Amino acid sequence: MVGIILCAGRSTRMGTGCVKILHNLAGKALYSWSLDIALELGLNPIILVLGHQHKLVQENLINNYKNRINTVIQRKQRGTGHAVSIALKNLNNFQGPILVLYGDTPLLRVETLKSLIELYKRSDSDIAMLTSHVSNPNGYGRIARTSSKLNIIEEFHATQKQKLIKEINSGIYLFNNNFLKKNIDRLEMNDSGEIYLTDLVNLTSKSIVSIEAPEDEILGVNDLVQLSNAERILRSRINNYWMLNGVRIIDPERTYIDFKVHISKGVLLEPGVVLVGNCKIFSGAVIKSYSVLQDAVIGKNSQIGPFANIRSRTVIGTDCKIGNFVEVKESYLAKKTKASHLSYIGNSSIGKFCNIGAGAITCNYNGFSKHSTKISDNVFVGSNTTLIAPLSIDNESYIAAGSVINKNVPQNTLAIGRAFQENKKIKTLI
Ligand code: UD1
Ligand code: CA
Repeated sequence: MVGIILCAGRSTRMGTGCVKILHNLAGKALYSWSLDIALELGLNPIILVLGHQHKLVQENLINNYKNRINTVIQRKQRGTGHAVSIALKNLNNFQGPILVLYGDTPLLRVETLKSLIELYKRSDSDIAMLTSHVSNPNGYGRIARTSSKLNIIEEFHATQKQKLIKEINSGIYLFNNNFLKKNIDRLEMNDSGEIYLTDLVNLTSKSIVSIEAPEDEILGVNDLVQLSNAERILRSRINNYWMLNGVRIIDPERTYIDFKVHISKGVLLEPGVVLVGNCKIFSGAVIKSYSVLQDAVIGKNSQIGPFANIRSRTVIGTDCKIGNFVEVKESYLAKKTKASHLSYIGNSSIGKFCNIGAGAITCNYNGFSKHSTKISDNVFVGSNTTLIAPLSIDNESYIAAGSVINKNVPQNTLAIGRAFQENKKIKTLI
Protein backbone atom coordinates (compact mmCIF):
# COMPACT_ATOMS: atom_id res chain seq x y z
CA MET A 1 0.00 0.00 0.00
CA VAL A 2 1.26 3.43 -0.97
CA GLY A 3 1.18 6.41 1.39
CA ILE A 4 0.93 9.98 0.14
CA ILE A 5 1.19 12.67 2.81
CA LEU A 6 0.20 16.17 1.78
CA CYS A 7 2.39 18.79 3.40
CA ALA A 8 2.77 21.57 0.85
CA GLY A 9 0.32 24.08 2.28
CA ARG A 10 1.41 27.67 2.70
CA SER A 11 0.77 27.83 6.48
CA THR A 12 -0.57 31.38 6.21
CA ARG A 13 -3.05 30.88 9.04
CA MET A 14 -0.26 29.95 11.48
CA GLY A 15 1.15 33.48 11.38
CA THR A 16 4.53 32.38 12.77
CA GLY A 17 6.63 32.57 9.61
CA CYS A 18 7.62 28.94 10.18
CA VAL A 19 6.14 26.26 7.94
CA LYS A 20 3.17 24.69 9.74
CA ILE A 21 4.29 21.07 9.67
CA LEU A 22 7.60 21.81 11.43
CA HIS A 23 5.94 23.15 14.57
CA ASN A 24 6.84 20.94 17.49
CA LEU A 25 4.01 18.96 19.02
CA ALA A 26 4.73 16.95 22.20
CA GLY A 27 8.27 16.20 21.08
CA LYS A 28 8.13 15.81 17.32
CA ALA A 29 7.26 17.88 14.27
CA LEU A 30 3.58 18.10 13.33
CA TYR A 31 4.07 16.09 10.12
CA SER A 32 5.89 13.31 11.98
CA TRP A 33 2.67 12.27 13.68
CA SER A 34 1.15 11.33 10.29
CA LEU A 35 4.40 9.95 8.91
CA ASP A 36 5.00 7.69 11.91
CA ILE A 37 1.50 6.25 11.54
CA ALA A 38 2.18 5.58 7.84
CA LEU A 39 5.39 3.77 8.82
CA GLU A 40 3.60 1.82 11.57
CA LEU A 41 1.02 0.65 9.00
CA GLY A 42 3.87 -0.57 6.82
CA LEU A 43 3.00 1.69 3.88
CA ASN A 44 5.73 1.53 1.26
CA PRO A 45 6.59 3.65 -0.60
CA ILE A 46 5.67 6.79 1.33
CA ILE A 47 5.80 10.09 -0.51
CA LEU A 48 5.63 13.48 1.17
CA VAL A 49 4.42 16.35 -0.98
CA LEU A 50 6.33 19.43 0.12
CA GLY A 51 6.11 23.05 -0.94
CA HIS A 52 6.54 25.98 1.36
CA GLN A 53 10.04 25.93 3.00
CA HIS A 54 10.65 22.44 1.58
CA LYS A 55 14.40 22.61 2.22
CA LEU A 56 13.83 22.96 5.96
CA VAL A 57 11.40 20.05 5.93
CA GLN A 58 13.85 17.88 3.98
CA GLU A 59 16.55 18.69 6.52
CA ASN A 60 14.22 17.63 9.34
CA LEU A 61 13.41 14.41 7.44
CA ILE A 62 17.08 13.54 7.01
CA ASN A 63 17.80 14.22 10.69
CA ASN A 64 14.94 12.08 11.89
CA TYR A 65 14.35 9.44 9.19
CA LYS A 66 17.71 9.29 7.35
CA ASN A 67 16.90 8.76 3.66
CA ARG A 68 13.92 6.46 4.04
CA ILE A 69 11.22 8.87 2.86
CA ASN A 70 10.63 10.13 -0.68
CA THR A 71 9.62 13.71 -1.28
CA VAL A 72 8.21 15.63 -4.23
CA ILE A 73 7.94 19.37 -4.50
CA GLN A 74 4.71 21.10 -5.39
CA ARG A 75 6.03 24.50 -6.47
CA LYS A 76 2.68 26.26 -6.61
CA GLN A 77 -0.01 25.20 -4.17
CA ARG A 78 -2.90 24.58 -6.52
CA GLY A 79 -4.92 22.45 -4.12
CA THR A 80 -5.06 18.95 -2.67
CA GLY A 81 -5.96 17.32 -6.05
CA HIS A 82 -2.97 18.94 -7.71
CA ALA A 83 -0.69 17.82 -4.85
CA VAL A 84 -1.78 14.17 -5.22
CA SER A 85 -1.33 14.31 -8.99
CA ILE A 86 2.30 15.41 -8.56
CA ALA A 87 2.94 12.57 -6.11
CA LEU A 88 1.42 10.03 -8.51
CA LYS A 89 3.75 11.08 -11.32
CA ASN A 90 6.59 9.91 -9.12
CA LEU A 91 5.04 6.54 -8.37
CA ASN A 92 5.51 4.81 -11.73
CA ASN A 93 4.18 1.30 -11.81
CA PHE A 94 3.09 0.71 -8.29
CA GLN A 95 -0.22 -1.20 -8.17
CA GLY A 96 -1.37 -1.26 -4.50
CA PRO A 97 -4.10 0.92 -3.03
CA ILE A 98 -3.16 4.47 -2.13
CA LEU A 99 -3.73 6.01 1.29
CA VAL A 100 -3.77 9.81 1.36
CA LEU A 101 -2.99 11.49 4.67
CA TYR A 102 -2.48 15.13 5.59
CA GLY A 103 0.57 16.41 7.38
CA ASP A 104 -1.63 18.57 9.60
CA THR A 105 -3.88 15.96 11.26
CA PRO A 106 -1.70 14.66 14.11
CA LEU A 107 -4.39 13.06 16.27
CA LEU A 108 -5.32 10.13 14.06
CA ARG A 109 -4.91 6.72 15.65
CA VAL A 110 -3.47 3.76 13.85
CA GLU A 111 -6.46 1.55 14.84
CA THR A 112 -8.82 3.90 13.01
CA LEU A 113 -6.80 3.65 9.81
CA LYS A 114 -6.67 -0.12 10.17
CA SER A 115 -10.49 -0.15 10.24
CA LEU A 116 -10.54 2.04 7.12
CA ILE A 117 -8.20 -0.38 5.35
CA GLU A 118 -10.38 -3.34 6.40
CA LEU A 119 -13.47 -1.58 5.09
CA TYR A 120 -11.76 -0.90 1.76
CA LYS A 121 -10.65 -4.51 1.42
CA ARG A 122 -14.15 -5.81 2.08
CA SER A 123 -15.73 -3.45 -0.46
CA ASP A 124 -15.42 -3.11 -4.19
CA SER A 125 -15.22 0.68 -4.02
CA ASP A 126 -12.79 3.07 -5.65
CA ILE A 127 -12.83 5.29 -2.56
CA ALA A 128 -13.00 4.52 1.14
CA MET A 129 -13.03 7.60 3.30
CA LEU A 130 -12.89 8.69 6.90
CA THR A 131 -15.58 11.11 8.05
CA SER A 132 -16.57 12.42 11.46
CA HIS A 133 -19.46 14.05 13.23
CA VAL A 134 -18.16 17.16 14.93
CA SER A 135 -19.72 19.75 17.20
CA ASN A 136 -18.33 22.66 15.18
CA PRO A 137 -17.92 21.87 11.47
CA ASN A 138 -16.63 25.34 10.55
CA GLY A 139 -13.81 25.23 8.01
CA TYR A 140 -14.25 21.57 7.05
CA GLY A 141 -15.68 20.06 3.89
CA ARG A 142 -19.26 18.86 4.63
CA ILE A 143 -20.49 15.40 3.69
CA ALA A 144 -23.80 15.74 1.85
CA ARG A 145 -25.47 12.34 1.49
CA THR A 146 -28.44 11.31 -0.60
CA SER A 147 -29.70 7.73 -0.77
CA SER A 148 -27.46 7.01 -3.76
CA LYS A 149 -24.63 9.53 -3.59
CA LEU A 150 -22.04 11.09 -1.32
CA ASN A 151 -20.82 14.60 -2.01
CA ILE A 152 -18.15 16.72 -0.35
CA ILE A 153 -18.88 20.41 -0.27
CA GLU A 154 -16.16 22.77 0.84
CA GLU A 155 -17.11 25.52 3.29
CA PHE A 156 -16.39 28.13 0.62
CA HIS A 157 -19.01 26.63 -1.72
CA ALA A 158 -21.55 25.49 0.86
CA THR A 159 -25.05 26.95 1.08
CA GLN A 160 -26.36 28.12 4.47
CA LYS A 161 -28.26 24.85 4.76
CA GLN A 162 -25.25 22.71 3.87
CA LYS A 163 -23.17 24.57 6.44
CA LEU A 164 -25.41 23.10 9.14
CA ILE A 165 -24.26 19.56 8.28
CA LYS A 166 -22.12 18.19 11.09
CA GLU A 167 -20.62 15.24 9.26
CA ILE A 168 -17.32 16.41 7.83
CA ASN A 169 -14.53 15.16 5.58
CA SER A 170 -11.40 14.27 7.54
CA GLY A 171 -9.22 14.49 4.42
CA ILE A 172 -8.13 10.87 4.75
CA TYR A 173 -8.95 8.50 1.92
CA LEU A 174 -7.97 5.16 0.51
CA PHE A 175 -8.10 5.01 -3.28
CA ASN A 176 -8.02 2.20 -5.77
CA ASN A 177 -4.78 2.65 -7.67
CA ASN A 178 -6.22 2.44 -11.21
CA PHE A 179 -9.15 4.67 -10.40
CA LEU A 180 -6.88 7.35 -8.97
CA LYS A 181 -4.39 7.24 -11.83
CA LYS A 182 -7.15 7.39 -14.45
CA ASN A 183 -9.04 10.24 -12.85
CA ILE A 184 -6.63 12.52 -11.05
CA ASP A 185 -5.86 14.58 -14.14
CA ARG A 186 -9.56 14.87 -14.98
CA LEU A 187 -10.10 17.09 -11.94
CA GLU A 188 -10.67 20.69 -12.90
CA MET A 189 -9.61 23.93 -11.32
CA ASN A 190 -12.60 25.54 -9.63
CA ASP A 191 -13.50 29.18 -9.15
CA SER A 192 -11.32 29.45 -6.03
CA GLY A 193 -8.29 28.67 -8.22
CA GLU A 194 -7.67 25.21 -6.71
CA ILE A 195 -7.95 21.61 -7.82
CA TYR A 196 -9.83 19.77 -5.07
CA LEU A 197 -9.05 16.14 -4.35
CA THR A 198 -12.54 15.94 -2.91
CA ASP A 199 -14.05 16.32 -6.40
CA LEU A 200 -12.96 12.74 -7.12
CA VAL A 201 -16.13 11.58 -5.39
CA ASN A 202 -17.99 12.78 -8.48
CA LEU A 203 -15.89 10.68 -10.84
CA THR A 204 -16.49 7.19 -9.48
CA SER A 205 -19.31 5.04 -10.81
CA LYS A 206 -19.17 2.85 -7.71
CA SER A 207 -20.55 3.64 -4.28
CA ILE A 208 -18.23 5.29 -1.78
CA VAL A 209 -17.70 3.58 1.55
CA SER A 210 -16.89 5.45 4.72
CA ILE A 211 -16.35 5.00 8.41
CA GLU A 212 -16.51 7.54 11.17
CA ALA A 213 -13.62 8.58 13.32
CA PRO A 214 -14.05 10.15 16.76
CA GLU A 215 -13.98 13.94 16.60
CA ASP A 216 -10.71 14.20 18.50
CA GLU A 217 -8.84 12.22 15.84
CA ILE A 218 -9.52 14.30 12.77
CA LEU A 219 -8.78 17.75 14.14
CA GLY A 220 -6.77 19.58 11.48
CA VAL A 221 -4.18 22.11 12.61
CA ASN A 222 -4.42 25.36 10.66
CA ASP A 223 -3.63 27.96 13.31
CA LEU A 224 -1.98 28.27 16.71
CA VAL A 225 -5.26 27.82 18.58
CA GLN A 226 -5.82 24.45 16.87
CA LEU A 227 -2.17 23.56 17.48
CA SER A 228 -2.57 24.09 21.21
CA ASN A 229 -5.83 22.10 21.20
CA ALA A 230 -4.11 19.24 19.42
CA GLU A 231 -1.24 19.42 21.88
CA ARG A 232 -3.62 19.28 24.84
CA ILE A 233 -5.33 16.18 23.44
CA LEU A 234 -2.05 14.42 22.61
CA ARG A 235 -0.55 15.19 26.01
CA SER A 236 -3.61 13.95 27.80
CA ARG A 237 -3.41 10.67 25.81
CA ILE A 238 0.27 10.36 26.75
CA ASN A 239 -0.43 11.08 30.44
CA ASN A 240 -3.35 8.63 30.53
CA TYR A 241 -1.13 5.96 29.02
CA TRP A 242 1.48 6.40 31.75
CA MET A 243 -1.10 6.58 34.54
CA LEU A 244 -2.55 3.28 33.32
CA ASN A 245 0.98 1.90 33.44
CA GLY A 246 1.71 2.59 37.08
CA VAL A 247 3.04 6.16 36.94
CA ARG A 248 1.45 8.48 39.48
CA ILE A 249 0.76 11.91 38.01
CA ILE A 250 -0.75 14.20 40.60
CA ASP A 251 -2.05 16.83 38.19
CA PRO A 252 -2.13 15.52 34.60
CA GLU A 253 -3.29 18.87 33.24
CA ARG A 254 -0.09 20.45 34.45
CA THR A 255 2.35 17.72 33.55
CA TYR A 256 4.02 17.75 30.12
CA ILE A 257 5.51 14.52 28.82
CA ASP A 258 6.93 14.22 25.31
CA PHE A 259 5.99 11.15 23.27
CA LYS A 260 9.48 9.57 23.43
CA VAL A 261 9.86 9.70 27.22
CA HIS A 262 9.96 6.38 29.04
CA ILE A 263 8.79 6.09 32.64
CA SER A 264 8.87 2.98 34.83
CA LYS A 265 6.10 1.88 37.14
CA GLY A 266 6.20 3.44 40.58
CA VAL A 267 7.46 6.87 39.51
CA LEU A 268 5.78 9.95 40.98
CA LEU A 269 5.45 13.17 38.99
CA GLU A 270 4.39 16.27 40.90
CA PRO A 271 2.50 19.20 39.33
CA GLY A 272 4.37 21.34 36.82
CA VAL A 273 6.89 18.71 35.73
CA VAL A 274 8.12 18.96 32.11
CA LEU A 275 9.79 15.92 30.54
CA VAL A 276 11.27 16.81 27.17
CA GLY A 277 12.79 14.62 24.44
CA ASN A 278 14.20 11.26 25.29
CA CYS A 279 14.04 11.09 29.11
CA LYS A 280 14.11 7.76 30.94
CA ILE A 281 12.90 7.70 34.54
CA PHE A 282 13.34 4.55 36.59
CA SER A 283 11.07 3.14 39.29
CA GLY A 284 10.71 4.84 42.65
CA ALA A 285 12.00 8.17 41.34
CA VAL A 286 10.14 11.28 42.45
CA ILE A 287 10.20 14.32 40.18
CA LYS A 288 9.08 17.25 42.27
CA SER A 289 7.16 20.30 41.14
CA TYR A 290 8.39 22.59 38.38
CA SER A 291 11.36 20.53 37.39
CA VAL A 292 12.33 20.47 33.71
CA LEU A 293 14.19 17.43 32.39
CA GLN A 294 15.49 17.08 28.85
CA ASP A 295 17.01 13.89 27.42
CA ALA A 296 17.94 12.87 30.97
CA VAL A 297 18.14 9.49 32.68
CA ILE A 298 17.02 9.35 36.32
CA GLY A 299 17.97 6.26 38.29
CA LYS A 300 15.83 4.27 40.71
CA ASN A 301 14.54 6.03 43.84
CA SER A 302 16.23 9.31 43.04
CA GLN A 303 14.58 12.59 43.96
CA ILE A 304 14.69 15.56 41.62
CA GLY A 305 13.55 19.10 42.41
CA PRO A 306 11.45 21.03 43.14
CA PHE A 307 12.64 23.56 40.54
CA ALA A 308 15.50 21.49 39.13
CA ASN A 309 16.80 21.90 35.57
CA ILE A 310 18.25 18.64 34.29
CA ARG A 311 19.61 19.16 30.81
CA SER A 312 20.67 16.95 27.94
CA ARG A 313 22.93 13.94 28.28
CA THR A 314 22.68 13.83 32.05
CA VAL A 315 22.56 10.52 33.86
CA ILE A 316 21.63 10.54 37.53
CA GLY A 317 22.26 7.22 39.27
CA THR A 318 20.11 5.45 41.87
CA ASP A 319 19.22 6.97 45.24
CA CYS A 320 20.53 10.41 44.33
CA LYS A 321 19.09 13.71 45.42
CA ILE A 322 19.01 16.81 43.26
CA GLY A 323 17.32 19.63 45.12
CA ASN A 324 15.93 23.05 44.37
CA PHE A 325 17.55 25.37 41.84
CA VAL A 326 20.15 22.85 40.82
CA GLU A 327 21.10 22.74 37.13
CA VAL A 328 22.86 19.68 35.77
CA LYS A 329 24.11 19.44 32.18
CA GLU A 330 25.94 16.65 30.32
CA SER A 331 26.96 15.06 33.58
CA TYR A 332 27.03 11.66 35.22
CA LEU A 333 26.27 11.15 38.93
CA ALA A 334 26.83 7.72 40.49
CA LYS A 335 24.58 6.32 43.21
CA LYS A 336 23.69 8.06 46.48
CA THR A 337 25.20 11.38 45.52
CA LYS A 338 23.49 14.61 46.55
CA ALA A 339 23.38 18.16 45.30
CA SER A 340 20.59 19.49 47.41
CA HIS A 341 20.56 23.22 46.76
CA LEU A 342 21.54 25.93 44.25
CA SER A 343 24.30 24.30 42.21
CA TYR A 344 25.50 24.19 38.62
CA ILE A 345 27.05 20.91 37.57
CA GLY A 346 28.19 20.90 33.93
CA ASN A 347 30.36 18.45 31.93
CA SER A 348 31.10 16.54 35.12
CA SER A 349 31.40 13.02 36.30
CA ILE A 350 30.73 12.53 40.00
CA GLY A 351 31.25 9.29 41.89
CA LYS A 352 29.10 7.64 44.52
CA PHE A 353 28.33 8.91 48.03
CA CYS A 354 29.38 12.48 47.24
CA ASN A 355 27.88 15.60 48.68
CA ILE A 356 27.85 18.76 46.61
CA GLY A 357 27.16 21.66 48.97
CA ALA A 358 24.77 24.53 48.42
CA GLY A 359 25.94 26.98 45.81
CA ALA A 360 28.85 24.87 44.51
CA ILE A 361 29.55 25.59 40.86
CA THR A 362 31.60 23.87 38.20
CA CYS A 363 33.16 26.46 35.90
CA ASN A 364 33.12 24.39 32.73
CA TYR A 365 33.44 27.17 30.15
CA ASN A 366 36.34 29.55 29.66
CA GLY A 367 34.66 31.59 26.97
CA PHE A 368 36.00 29.41 24.15
CA SER A 369 35.54 25.75 25.03
CA LYS A 370 34.02 23.39 27.56
CA HIS A 371 36.13 21.50 30.11
CA SER A 372 35.24 18.66 32.40
CA THR A 373 35.35 18.05 36.12
CA LYS A 374 35.92 14.60 37.54
CA ILE A 375 35.01 13.93 41.15
CA SER A 376 35.62 10.43 42.51
CA ASP A 377 33.76 8.57 45.29
CA ASN A 378 33.00 9.85 48.82
CA VAL A 379 33.99 13.42 48.10
CA PHE A 380 32.55 16.30 50.11
CA VAL A 381 32.37 19.59 48.23
CA GLY A 382 31.67 22.42 50.68
CA SER A 383 29.15 25.15 50.07
CA ASN A 384 29.79 28.00 47.68
CA THR A 385 32.89 26.49 46.11
CA THR A 386 34.06 27.29 42.61
CA LEU A 387 35.52 24.29 40.79
CA ILE A 388 37.48 25.53 37.78
CA ALA A 389 37.67 22.87 35.05
CA PRO A 390 39.59 20.94 33.86
CA LEU A 391 39.81 19.52 37.34
CA SER A 392 39.85 16.24 39.14
CA ILE A 393 39.17 15.54 42.81
CA ASP A 394 40.14 12.11 44.02
CA ASN A 395 38.42 9.72 46.48
CA GLU A 396 37.60 10.65 50.07
CA SER A 397 38.66 14.29 49.74
CA TYR A 398 37.11 17.42 51.15
CA ILE A 399 36.83 20.86 49.61
CA ALA A 400 36.47 23.57 52.22
CA ALA A 401 33.45 25.83 51.87
CA GLY A 402 34.01 29.00 49.90
CA SER A 403 37.08 27.67 48.07
CA VAL A 404 38.14 28.45 44.54
CA ILE A 405 39.78 25.24 43.31
CA ASN A 406 41.81 25.13 40.10
CA LYS A 407 44.45 22.49 40.96
CA ASN A 408 43.73 18.76 41.08
CA VAL A 409 43.05 17.38 44.56
CA PRO A 410 44.64 14.00 45.41
CA GLN A 411 42.82 11.42 47.52
CA ASN A 412 42.23 11.79 51.25
CA THR A 413 42.99 15.49 51.19
CA LEU A 414 41.38 18.62 52.51
CA ALA A 415 41.69 21.38 49.94
CA ILE A 416 41.21 24.95 51.09
CA GLY A 417 41.41 27.74 48.57
CA ARG A 418 40.06 30.80 50.28
CA ALA A 419 41.27 33.86 52.10
CA PHE A 420 41.70 33.07 55.78
CA GLN A 421 39.58 34.98 58.19
CA GLU A 422 41.05 37.57 60.46
CA ASN A 423 39.15 38.80 63.48
CA LYS A 424 40.20 42.28 64.55
CA LYS A 425 38.97 43.97 67.67
CA ILE A 426 37.09 47.10 66.66
CA LYS A 427 38.65 49.18 69.42
CA THR A 428 42.20 48.57 68.24
CA LEU A 429 41.24 49.73 64.74
CA ILE A 430 40.10 53.15 65.81
C1 UD1 B 1 -9.24 19.89 3.34
C2 UD1 B 1 -10.41 19.26 2.56
C3 UD1 B 1 -11.68 19.35 3.42
C4 UD1 B 1 -11.43 18.65 4.74
C5 UD1 B 1 -10.21 19.20 5.47
C6 UD1 B 1 -9.87 18.31 6.64
C7 UD1 B 1 -9.98 19.64 0.17
C8 UD1 B 1 -10.35 20.44 -1.01
N1 UD1 B 1 -10.61 19.97 1.30
O1 UD1 B 1 -9.54 21.26 3.55
O2 UD1 B 1 -12.77 18.74 2.73
O3 UD1 B 1 -12.58 18.80 5.55
O4 UD1 B 1 -9.06 19.19 4.59
O5 UD1 B 1 -8.80 18.83 7.41
O6 UD1 B 1 -9.19 18.73 0.08
N2 UD1 B 1 -1.92 20.79 0.61
C9 UD1 B 1 -0.93 20.57 -0.31
N3 UD1 B 1 -0.96 21.25 -1.50
C10 UD1 B 1 -1.93 22.13 -1.80
C11 UD1 B 1 -2.95 22.36 -0.86
C12 UD1 B 1 -2.92 21.67 0.34
O7 UD1 B 1 -0.01 19.77 -0.08
O8 UD1 B 1 -1.87 22.70 -2.89
C13 UD1 B 1 -1.88 20.07 1.89
C14 UD1 B 1 -1.78 20.98 3.11
O9 UD1 B 1 -0.43 21.16 3.47
C15 UD1 B 1 -2.54 20.19 4.17
C16 UD1 B 1 -3.55 19.40 3.37
O10 UD1 B 1 -3.10 19.36 2.04
O11 UD1 B 1 -1.71 19.26 4.85
C17 UD1 B 1 -4.94 20.02 3.45
O12 UD1 B 1 -4.88 21.33 2.92
P1 UD1 B 1 -5.69 22.52 3.59
O13 UD1 B 1 -5.47 23.74 2.78
O14 UD1 B 1 -5.40 22.59 5.03
O15 UD1 B 1 -7.17 22.01 3.31
P2 UD1 B 1 -8.46 22.36 4.13
O16 UD1 B 1 -8.95 23.70 3.69
O17 UD1 B 1 -8.23 22.16 5.56
CA1 CA C 1 -6.35 21.71 6.93
